[in-house]
Formats: sequence, C-alpha cells, structure tokens
Amino acid sequence: MCGIVAACTHRPISKILITGLKALEYRGYDSAGIALQTDSGLQRLRTQGKVAALEALWQSSPIEGHCGIAHTRWATHGVPNTANAHPHLSGSKIALVHNGIIENHAELRNELTQAGYTFGSETDTEVMVHLIDQLEREHGDLFTAVSKACERFRGAYAIAVTSSREPETVVGARLGSPLVLGIGEAGNEHFLASDVHALLPETRQFIYLEEGDLVRIRADEYLLLDVDGNNTTREVKTSKVDSEAFDKGPYPHFMLKEIHEQPGAVAETLEGRIFGGKVLANIFGVGADELLAKVENVHIVACGTSYYAGMVARYQIEELAGIPCSVEIASEYRYRKPVVPSNCLYVTITQSGETLDTLSALRHAKKESYLATLVVCNVPESSAVRESDLILMTRAGPEIGVASTKAFTTQLAALQLLTLRLAQLNGMDEDVYRQRVTELEQLPGLLASALELNDELKLLAKDFADKEHALYLGRGDHYPIALEGALKLKEISYIHAEAYPAGELKHGPLALVDENMPVVAVAPNDSLTEKLVSNIAEVKARGGRLIVVADREAVAKLAADHGKVVQVETGGTLVAPIVLTIPLQLLAYHVAILKGTEIDQPRNLAKSVTVE
Ligand code: M6R
Repeated sequence: MCGIVAACTHRPISKILITGLKALEYRGYDSAGIALQTDSGLQRLRTQGKVAALEALWQSSPIEGHCGIAHTRWATHGVPNTANAHPHLSGSKIALVHNGIIENHAELRNELTQAGYTFGSETDTEVMVHLIDQLEREHGDLFTAVSKACERFRGAYAIAVTSSREPETVVGARLGSPLVLGIGEAGNEHFLASDVHALLPETRQFIYLEEGDLVRIRADEYLLLDVDGNNTTREVKTSKVDSEAFDKGPYPHFMLKEIHEQPGAVAETLEGRIFGGKVLANIFGVGADELLAKVENVHIVACGTSYYAGMVARYQIEELAGIPCSVEIASEYRYRKPVVPSNCLYVTITQSGETLDTLSALRHAKKESYLATLVVCNVPESSAVRESDLILMTRAGPEIGVASTKAFTTQLAALQLLTLRLAQLNGMDEDVYRQRVTELEQLPGLLASALELNDELKLLAKDFADKEHALYLGRGDHYPIALEGALKLKEISYIHAEAYPAGELKHGPLALVDENMPVVAVAPNDSLTEKLVSNIAEVKARGGRLIVVADREAVAKLAADHGKVVQVETGGTLVAPIVLTIPLQLLAYHVAILKGTEIDQPRNLAKSVTVE
C-alpha cells in the first residue's frame, strides 16, 4: 500500500519523483523518501509524514541526479518514523523501495546479521536491500542479484532498486503488488511506478508488469523477464486517464468533489449499457450472456465498501432474479474451503482491482469449480480485471479520497445492471423489468437532487461533532447502506459508529441508546417501512437523538415526533439504496469538517490495500 516511483533519464529527476509521489499519496502517507545517483554518489533524503515534508527537506538541502527511486509509505512493520522510511540502504551503494510485506523477513534478518549486516530499521523491507547487496557482490551485477534475491522472498512485493555500482540503472520486480513501466515519448526515458497516475505528467505509454516480472530500466532501454526468466515483450498501452481527476477544482477536498461527481459517474457507468428499456446483452464481455443464462448461484467476494455494495446486490439478486446469492469478506473467503454449488458465478467487487485480499480470494476461487469469474472494477488495467473472465467496468474516474463515495454508488449501479440482466434471463415479469430499468435510467437525476440537501446536512452535522458514538439503522437492502454510512463517519471523523439491522436493535444495542446517542435511520419507501417506523419509535421512547433520512413517501408514515428528518426523493425500490447513500456521505463529510479531521487522507488508512 505504499507508493513507488523511479526514473532513469538524461535530465534532472528529483522534481519528477516528488511530483509522482504526491500523486501516489493515496497509497500511504506515513513517511516519504528519495534516493538519487548524484555526481557524488548515492544520496538519500527521508522524512516522517507526508510528501510535502519531503519536498520541504529537499528544498532546504537539494539533491539531484538522472537516475533514482522514491517512496511514500503506509507502515506495516515498524512505526512511521524517519528510520523506517524508505528508501533503505545497504552500506552506501544500494538503495531500495518496497511495497508489500516480506513474510520470511525474520529468518532473512538472522541470516544477514550473521553475515555481518547491521540493521537500522524495524521494517521487513531492510532485509531485501542487504540480501541484494550480498548477491550483487557475489554475482557482479544488480539485475542478477535482484533476480536471485526474489527467489528467497516469501510474501508480496513491488520493488525498485538502484546501485551506485551501476548508477545508470534501476531494477524493478513485482509479485503480488502492482508496478508499471512508463516509457518516455521519445523512448529515451524510462520509469517505474505503483500506478500510472504518478507518471502522467511525463508519459502516457505504459507496460503493466505481470506477476513475477523482473525489469531493468536505463534511460535508453529496458529489459523485461517474465516469471520463468524468459526475455519478454509486452504490449505498450496508452493511458487515457484524465489528469483533471487529480485536481480538486473548486472543492476544498477530493471527497466533496467526488461526492458531487456521482450523478455524472453513474451516468457514465450506465452509458451504452441500457437501450430501448433493456439492459443490453453482452455488456460483461463477448459471449457473457451464454454464461449468465446458466447461472444458478452467485458468490460475491469483496472488502470494505465494496463488500457493502455486494450486500446490497445480494438482496436484489435474490429478490429480482430469484438466484441464491452469498456475500463474503475476501480476507475470510481466501483461507477457507468454499462449497461451490452448481453453475455458480463468482463475482469480485473492487474499486482499485489491486486489493490483495480480494485478488487472493479470486485466485483461490479460480481453483474451484465456478462457472466463471466476473469483476466489477473501476481500474481497467488492474490485476482483478486482467485475471477475471467477465468484466463490468464502473466508470467513476479516479477516486482520490480514501473514503469511497463515487466508487460505491457506481458499483451499486453496475451490480444492478448485472441483477437486471440475470433477472431477465431468469424470466422476470416484463413490466416489472421495464419499470426497474426506467428507475436506473432516472438515477443520475435523482442523485443530483439528493446533492441539493448539502446545506441541510451541514446543519445536522452539528448534532454529531461533540459525540463519540453513533448508531445507524436500516432494514433489507438499506442495512448495508447503514453500514456504509457508519463506515464513512468513522473513517473521516473518527467517531465510533455502528450499524445494525433495525430489527436487531431490541436484541442488545438498544441498551446504548440515550440522549447522547445520535441514531441515523435510513428509511426508504418499501415493504419494510412500517417495521422500521416501529424500530424508530423504540429509539425515540428511549430518548435517542434521531435523524431519519427518508424517502418522501416514507415521511408520511413517520410519527409526528420522529426526530429530525431529511427528505429525499428516492425514485423506486431498486435505486433507493444508491440515492439514500448521498445524504449519509454528506453528513459524514460535514461532521469531519466540524471536527477538523483529515478528510482525504484519514489517519492510519490508505486507498489501495495491497497488503494482507
Ligand atoms: O479497491 P477496493 O474496492 O478493493 O477496496 C476495498 C476497501 O479497501 C475499500 O472499499 C475501503 O473500505 C473504502 N475505501 C472505504 O471507504
């Protein structure tokens, strides 16, 4: 979950590397560092904290060179301090940056200590640089040394290494963590990075390295070996990523920008996939419908917000398509033996497509007898997309805020396309089907109206800012929406928030309710509204401070003293969970503003979770 940038060029690169790190801060921001091959040998700068601190250090004591590596860290082994910051050095000759976790680091550390190496950090990474140094001395060149060292590493890694014995070279390798090779437009510059965003100001030409790849870059050339050590070439792809996505525009935070982008992002996700009142055939890939027609069971596996999207899909797939569906957290699924029923579709949901738990679960599933694997993802060149049979891209555009917003609502919209396609193939009533498709078509407009509630939610946020806990309630497919609302609040405001199925309240959590406990209830207009209204009354009777986010028609069913109500036009039962998400996102955002917390980069978190 760290960010790596490396460059070999004929021009000064310190600014290229630092700019690249800023674009990668969503991957981690505990500490940052840079190492360059300079006229006076290998030089390094490191700081605790964000890339801005590294930039300030560089301004006060600049170093410069044509070849080097840089890193922004999300701490796993060892606290976030300067000693643990990357790049790590072995002596004064070799520097290395690493993303991932080396599981056999203790064993390697003992071995290297006995060989005379001394360690200056608590990280698992430092063993890598010393082992490479040892092997470089033995074999005489960096590329061979890295290749031999990779044979010894257990765990996940993307690395970039530079040695002043070959000051014009950087060697990279990947296994379990992403790494791209950027090729300068004139072919006389080469770069490595955790993802393309770091390099967009320099190039749009990329090779996406595959598992087990080893690469050597110099300014004028690169050499690529595949997992079997064979010299290989791969397709050079042109990135079409919009660099404006990396600008906050008029918004103070990426999160607020991304919340407001949701009508457009959802419209993009639906674009070209619905026509003439129908979800089009084969939007999941050529021949997909033949497979979907055979589906008798669905297993969905994901993490975090994506898992909550899967939970909503489960309710909707079972109700509309009549197909049994289970949803599981990837870090649990990957370590158990699943029972795979007949004709079961395995669905991965992942914004980044690089979440290690989710990828490992997919690889685990591929060894089982699933009918096919389908991924709902936001990053076209990601590992999850490359490794799945069927693909449905959400078209949210890059999401920079660590707290997912538009990624979630576009996942829900994409999953509803899947639900409706499965439902139609399973003989759903034609009128109901068309009505649901119409709902989806109207979704962008409904989201735009929900955003107009911003000022109302800003006022309500005041009820939360001095609180330490909050409860969220929902029923049916709005229970996962309550979970997502609670997750948003805890991620960015650090208020402890829990979500419950509203019917479960009386089985325990009601004991927590008093006048200091804000309780947010998500109230659509559906078959469960009256049940929810009773649960709301139970909270009210215990003096709880209620905030009900309710569909306009559901409001009529609430009692007069139902607490504060945010009235939303939800459009219908299929899309209501998506529309009702918006007020919860805005509420969390404004509470965080009042608390003065870090909104786009909350403490201890990172956007792309590429470690276990
Ligand atoms: O990239 P993914 O969708 O696989 O990420 C999974 C979770 O880490 C992610 O959804 C996380 O829970 C959200 N960013 C939280 O807002």
